[in-house]
Amino acid sequence: MNYKRSSALFAQAETVIPGGVNSPVRAFKAVGGTPIFVKEAKGAYLYDEDDNRLIDYINSWGPMILGHAYEPVVNAVVDKAKKGTSFGMPTEIETQIAQLAVSMVPNIDKIRFVNSGTEACMSAVRLARGFAGKDKIIKFAGCYHGHSDSFLIQAGSGAVTFGSPNSPGVTQGTAKDTLLARYNDIENVTQLIEANKNEISCVIIEPVAGNMGCIPPIEGFLQALRDLCDANNILLIFDEVMTGFRLAKGGVQELFNIKADIVCFGKVIGGGLPVGAFAARNEIMNHLAPLGPVYQAGTLSGNPLAMAAGLAMLNELNNDAEIFNRLAKKTAYLHEGIAKVLNANNVAHTINRVGSMISVHFDEAEVVDFETAAKGNNDTFKKFFHGLLDKGIYIAPSAFETWFITDALTYEDLDFTIEAIEIVAKTL
Ligand SMILES: Cc1ncc(COP(=O)(O)O)c(C=O)c1O
Repeated sequence: MNYKRSSALFAQAETVIPGGVNSPVRAFKAVGGTPIFVKEAKGAYLYDEDDNRLIDYINSWGPMILGHAYEPVVNAVVDKAKKGTSFGMPTEIETQIAQLAVSMVPNIDKIRFVNSGTEACMSAVRLARGFAGKDKIIKFAGCYHGHSDSFLIQAGSGAVTFGSPNSPGVTQGTAKDTLLARYNDIENVTQLIEANKNEISCVIIEPVAGNMGCIPPIEGFLQALRDLCDANNILLIFDEVMTGFRLAKGGVQELFNIKADIVCFGKVIGGGLPVGAFAARNEIMNHLAPLGPVYQAGTLSGNPLAMAAGLAMLNELNNDAEIFNRLAKKTAYLHEGIAKVLNANNVAHTINRVGSMISVHFDEAEVVDFETAAKGNNDTFKKFFHGLLDKGIYIAPSAFETWFITDALTYEDLDFTIEAIEIVAKTL
């Protein structure tokens, strides 16, 4: 395929935007080559600036669960835009989407809308700290909760007691309040809690991880985490920015029947516009300003365009009883097809899948946490990525990402993808 115009546009972008992109993973650093500039998209397909058609397995990193330029969402946004795009004053549609979200998700009474998943998680942690009156938090290595300071933490030398910054600009002072645990390892979480008795306000987790590839919680892990939190007076935050309104109407709480204290949303809830949200039962949410002392705000939060897109999207999902089954079936079909052709070509791999999230790791060992995810063969992934791109299939340009299946994908698209993988597998 020809990417001449994308290359030229990237060269221009690099002169005025750091690295040419507004979010680092878009720059193709992990796979090499030039990022692709999108001209437009419809349904399951992207059309780039060189007029190549690509089957899209990223879908804006999750939001486009029903496909690109989905008409009910686009129409809702266009209608609203004509009436003004932001007022910084209350509008009825904010209550409408809040009512719908609260009716779809278990264990929440109130929801506050923000502009990104980062903001949602950052605010959820502040609320948890304010509610619990304790400073420390536990996060899991390999889980991503956006780029606010408290989350840009890696295991420090004293990992049992505190983490260390993994980006310049994050202070040691901030890092000392974030403890790093191993995903799927309840013993490890127990040790951290023991070593920091009565100091931990919350545990935040991607209840199905998607930012080290897709990693499901092992049987019993989330329930054990719930019990541990209850026993130690710690709030459990489910970061459902990826999984919310994707794996089930009520997200992982519904899928695995585990109660979270605070839930974070992003991606699907905004229908492709910049939206995040966090939600909890009244007792916790009433701690937020203006009702309570925990401050949180936003000039563009709940703006009518974003709310119109989100409401149209949630309505579509709420009114389609089969949507999550249909997505899971398509994903299972893809899983089976990929496994078959990789096995036939002796490519060492592990495929993880939950609902419409799936990822291919190039290592035979089970992938259950960040350490095992990091063992994947990156050279193989790079070849795989570029091989597929060459055949008109766009997967995330990093081995640590989940593929997001959209309902717009047809079985012909899936067959085309599996056939392409069969050809690429012979080159790995
Ligand atoms: C689980 C999870 N939480 C939070 C975020 C941050 O969301 P945003 O990129 O909208 O700030 C992401 C983004 O990928 C995510 O996957």
